[in-house]
Parts: sequence; structure tokens; C-alpha cells
Amino acid sequence: MRFEAWSKALVTQPVDCLVVGIFEDDGLSETAKTLDAPSGGRITKAVQGGDFTGKSGETLLLTEVTGMRATRILLTGVGPRKLYERKAWRRAVAASFSALLRTRIRSVAFGLERPRDRALDDYSYGRAMAVLTGTALYRINDLKTAKKPKPPALESVLLGPFRKAGIAAARRGFDHGQALNAAIKLQRDLGNLPGNICTPTYLADRARELGKKHGTLKIKVLDEAALRAQGMGCLLAVARGSDEPPRLVVIEYRGGRTGQAPVVLVGKGITFDTGGISLKDPAAMDEMKYDMCGAAAVLSALSFAAAAELPLNLVGLIAAAENMPSGRAIKPGDIVTSASGQTVEILNTDAEGRLVLCDALHYARQFDPCAVIDIATLTGACVVALGAHHTGIMGNDDALARELVASGVRADDRAWQLPLTEDYAEQLKSNFADMGNVGGREGGAITAAAFLGKFTKGLKWAHLDIAGTAWLGGARKGSTGRPVPLLADFLVQRSRR
Ligand code: BES
Ligand code: MN
Ligand code: ZN
Repeated sequence: MRFEAWSKALVTQPVDCLVVGIFEDDGLSETAKTLDAPSGGRITKAVQGGDFTGKSGETLLLTEVTGMRATRILLTGVGPRKLYERKAWRRAVAASFSALLRTRIRSVAFGLERPRDRALDDYSYGRAMAVLTGTALYRINDLKTAKKPKPPALESVLLGPFRKAGIAAARRGFDHGQALNAAIKLQRDLGNLPGNICTPTYLADRARELGKKHGTLKIKVLDEAALRAQGMGCLLAVARGSDEPPRLVVIEYRGGRTGQAPVVLVGKGITFDTGGISLKDPAAMDEMKYDMCGAAAVLSALSFAAAAELPLNLVGLIAAAENMPSGRAIKPGDIVTSASGQTVEILNTDAEGRLVLCDALHYARQFDPCAVIDIATLTGACVVALGAHHTGIMGNDDALARELVASGVRADDRAWQLPLTEDYAEQLKSNFADMGNVGGREGGAITAAAFLGKFTKGLKWAHLDIAGTAWLGGARKGSTGRPVPLLADFLVQRSRR
């Protein structure tokens, strides 16, 4: 896709179609008015004739338009003027694309009014538009054998109006948006793949493939023997029940100054979570193929940083294993030793994410990071607390947590901080080991983070629980691409420091 910013009159844009907004209560937007007279009043006629009300998401394609270079105008309802903010704008863009992609239109200029939003500067506006385009064009990577539908005709998207001074920033936004789209697609495709294809070995292979694509990414894969040498008893314990060998994948990107402390991202890569001996209910167990979305987010974030050539240092760690029941599997009551030396009583084998993460988090120390962020589909409790709307943020550094929340707002990929105070760690006490791996039902998202907190002392650390946000259930079941937009924004901000 080609993106460009327009700044002069919409009426002069040399494209197949112009998109303008109609308010539900206030009729033609300013840009719609600029097209009305040249078109011989076509827009007013459509609105006054009652063919178009301006309800949010409504669209009407006017064809054989004269008086301008485009021959089509797409009217898009943007709802009441008073409620026209980021969300209404997003809905209107999505509705416009769903109408445009049903046609053979190849080029389009968007003239929807820019929503009121302080976080939406020229750069973010361009980036958001590119990402919405990517979302509209995404096709699920299904394994259906029927013939795939024809690819859409759309080739170029213009966005405006921009003041002259804003064009360079908008273009940077488009470029980052394109890099982000590739990253989001990677995240979604990996999340949608079934557990029999997307195994720990497969994740490691995909990382190596990324390393080939971007010369700036350096890949290292630790196999079982290497994990044993590192003393990663917790990660190995989870993998014991499975025939699939575990992997720890290390991806290094050095785009910053030598010696500058890196950000380290750590991803939970459980390629299938049956629960192990503490077996899960059969209902919706298929969804546990998504349990590697944290790992996918790490791969995606690294691929974004490399594609956008961000000037910062970054390390990605992926802790990959499959959680299965078998005669070799860990059992409730088993005690294992983590890479940090702390012992863990495994009270529930379904709390496996924190076990693979604790060893990877310990491994992060050797990079002397300026910040460590782990990303994991960690708890059902987080889904209960925040639903599918916000990613849960916990950690030991409020400034870092606030930074991530702000990135979520800018990227339209929101997160909310939960209070990880010392109190929660008490729930992890064990009579037999340094800690148990579960802390009871109460505050389950936070006790999981408290467990991780025992391995991140002295680091600036944040934990993103994406159990609710990484995918959708129901009819639109599938991977969402979250929290890749949030992470990408965070990295862009960090690279400006
Ligand atoms: N992968 C699950 C968490 C999960 C649950 C993600 C639902 C998405 C939707 C995790 O490994 C798990 O099983 N967590 C347990 C922890 C419990 C045993 C303390 C949970 O949340 O039930
Ligand atoms: Mn589990
Ligand atoms: Zn899990």
C-alpha cells in the first residue's frame, strides 16, 4: 500500500474516490461542503432526500460524479458532532474501508474530519490511519481449502488535510504504520496457528527467519541441553510432559549507541496449554493455542524495531514450551529449582506461564537492561478483572508502568495498571519451598505478577497480562494483534529519549 498526505483542496486530488464525513445532527462536514457545489449538489441531495442520515458506520457511494478529478464520493456517517472523537473516527474509517474494499477502487483520498484528541499529533494520525488500513486488509490465515477471494484493488490511500509543516511527520507516521502492520500481521498469524504447527521449534525457526530478513537482528536459540546448563529448572519442568522440546530464543537488536542499556522484552511462549496434570476443562481448550501470544508479541516488536530502524538497543527473549500431561509430566507438589536458585513448589501445573517466565526473566539480568517488560497470556483472573478492553499492567516501577499506559492511549491499544503491593506475595508462601506457584483465587492476576516479582528484584520491570486482549472469542474468534501497537509506541518513544 502507498500512503500520502494531502494538503490542498480535496476536490483537486487525482484519485478514484474521495471520502467525506456527514454528521448525524449537523449534516455536511467542512470537507463535504467543499465537494458539494462542484458536484452539482449531489451530497445535499442525498442527505435532504433522506438517503443518508449520517449515523456512525453508515456509508453511501455516489458514482459518476462530475466537477472534480475523482468520479466517486463515498459519504460516511460519523455520528453526532459532539461525540466525534477517536473512537467515532476509527469506526468511520473502518466502515469506509468495508465499503471501498467491495469495489474496484484503486486510490482513495480521505477527508474525514480529524477527531479532537491531544494524543493525535500529525505523526500519530498518519500512523493510526496506516494501521486502520492494515486492519481492514487483514485476512485470517485459515487453512481452508476453498479458493481464496480475489485480493482487493486498493493500492493507495491519501490522508488529509495536513498543514505543510505537518507533512513530514505524517509521512513518518505512515512509514511506521506500515512497519507496524507487518508486525501486527506476524502477531496475528502466529496466534492463529494451531499448536500442532506452532511448536517451540517452529517459533525458534520463525525467529531465525526474521534474522535472515533483517541483518540487524541477531538470533540465538538455547536447546534443552543449554537450558540445563543455565539451570532453568522451572522452564524445563513445564516442558517435561511434552514430546516437543522447549526453547529459549534470544533476539538482539542493536540500533542504539554501543554501551547504551537495552530494553529487554520477555514473552510467554506456551505453544499449547492443556493445564498439564491439573488438566483444563475441555470447553474452549482449543483457545489455548494462543498461549504463545506474548512470545509472538516479542518477535513482532523486534521486527518492528528493525523495520523502522529505531535508534535504540533491544533484546527479545522467548520462553517456549508445550504444557502437556504425561507419565513424565510434573505433578502438584513437585519442587523444582529456578535459574535464580530459588525453589518453587508446583501446586498447580496449570500455572505454567510464570514458571517459564521466571527463568527467562533471570536470564535478562546479563544484559544490564534499562527496563524489562514481560508479555504473557498469564491469568484468567486478568480477563475477569479487565475483560477484553485493557491489558493488565503490573510491576515494580510506577514510572515505567505510566509510560506503558500512555503508549497504550496513543496507540489505541489500552492498558490499565493494577496495584502490585507487597501484600500479594504473602499468598505465595509454601511450607516446603521458597514459594508456591499459585496464590489462591483472590487477586489472581496480581499474585501471578507477585511471583514474577520475586525474580525481578533490582530491575526496572513491568508485566503485561494480555490474556484478555490478545484475542477475541465468539464469531470473530482469532488473534487481535495486541499489544503490538502499544509496544511499538513505547519503543518509538524510548528511541527519542
Ligand atoms: N494460559 C492460562 C491463562 C489464560 C486463561 C489465558 C484464560 C487466557 C484465557 C494460564 O496458564 C493459566 O492456566 N492460568 C491459570 C492460573 C491458575 C491455575 C492460578 C488460570 O488463570 O486459571
Ligand atoms: Mn495454564
Ligand atoms: Zn498458560
